[in-house]
Amino acid sequence: MKIDLIAGARPNFMKIASIIDAIHEAKANNKDIEYRLIHTGQHYDKNMSENFFTQLSIPHPHVNLGASGGSQSQQTASIMIGYEKLLIDEKSDLCLVVGDVNSTMACSIVAQKLHVPVAHVEAGIRSGDWKMPEEINRLVTDAITNFFFTTTIEAGNNLKKSGVSEDKIFWVGNTMIDTLIKHRSSFQKPLFWDEFNLQKNEYLVMTLHRPANVDEDNNLKILIEEIINNSHGLPLVFPAHPRTSKILAKLDVNFKNLYITEPLGYLEFNYLVENSRGVITDSGGITEETTFMGVPCITLRDTTERPETITIGTNELIGTDPWAIKPAMDKLFSGKWKKGCIPELWDGKAGKRIVDALVSLNKFK
Ligand code: UD1
Repeated sequence: MKIDLIAGARPNFMKIASIIDAIHEAKANNKDIEYRLIHTGQHYDKNMSENFFTQLSIPHPHVNLGASGGSQSQQTASIMIGYEKLLIDEKSDLCLVVGDVNSTMACSIVAQKLHVPVAHVEAGIRSGDWKMPEEINRLVTDAITNFFFTTTIEAGNNLKKSGVSEDKIFWVGNTMIDTLIKHRSSFQKPLFWDEFNLQKNEYLVMTLHRPANVDEDNNLKILIEEIINNSHGLPLVFPAHPRTSKILAKLDVNFKNLYITEPLGYLEFNYLVENSRGVITDSGGITEETTFMGVPCITLRDTTERPETITIGTNELIGTDPWAIKPAMDKLFSGKWKKGCIPELWDGKAGKRIVDALVSLNKFK
């Protein structure tokens, strides 16, 4: 059985890594499973892509479709054209996609149209917010997926409600957490640790890249000012996504305790998170990692597709209104932030469960 593994954007790489490990293990145990790793090129900067391959020991992709930037549609179309050509030249038995990025949706459409079945890892999660491209990607992908691998029971319930039959849903846990567990003991202090005078539990980490938070200059400026004003003077480390950097470059935001950096490597970023007082973010994946590590997380979004990070974990959703920041940060500094627990099956074995299931599915439909 030959599987295409699709990875295109930063949050895909940590999800695919544990599946590749599990495939290598299955092959070593003489299971009939081969893979072709396809990088769509959606993320192309060294520190958004290549560094993750190196740090997570992900093998060099067999193919890079070189799709890179452009609008939502340009990017999606470019990935589709590249993957279609590849699949026509050499067909695979299954296309496995992860997460909710444009690469996920683009490749599932291509595969399904060429009669190659699709497996979706992280299927069934829903924010209900159709203004986010990721939600459209999730809906479209799940509408044409054959095998659904889920992180939580709730994700499976969403799928069942939409008519997916139970025998196609595999509750396996979270491959992103597999990778976190594997690499936790190797997290690395970032080079700027001493330069910024960081001390354990005495700084905050922030990431923002969603259009709702960063695309309107003045709004971004007010958000940052409000966070700084309520940070009790602690250093605030802000590794900025390329999209956010472009906007920050036009704004005059200079504060003594604000440290804007390039996007960090996986090992450095998670070292920072693990040792921080708390995280302020609009990412989805980071809310899962903070939940696993028990780090307080304030999320600047109105909705989440990962409700377990709130009901079970350490995450709180406060919306995108800057005036919601003060009460949340007061709570963080009061020391009364909830402790949280780890969701079931987030135990480091999701990749193995996925590959075991794939091996046992002897006929894809
Ligand atoms: C994508 C995902 C999002 C994920 C995020 C993590 C979609 C719809 N969104 O959003 O779910 O949370 O990745 O980073 O797939 N850029 C660079 N260099 C790069 C990558 C991007 O300069 O290596 C620029 C692009 O040219 C573009 C902007 O950053 O101008 C946005 O990139 P894009 O891939 O469209 O979406 P993200 O915002 O990164």
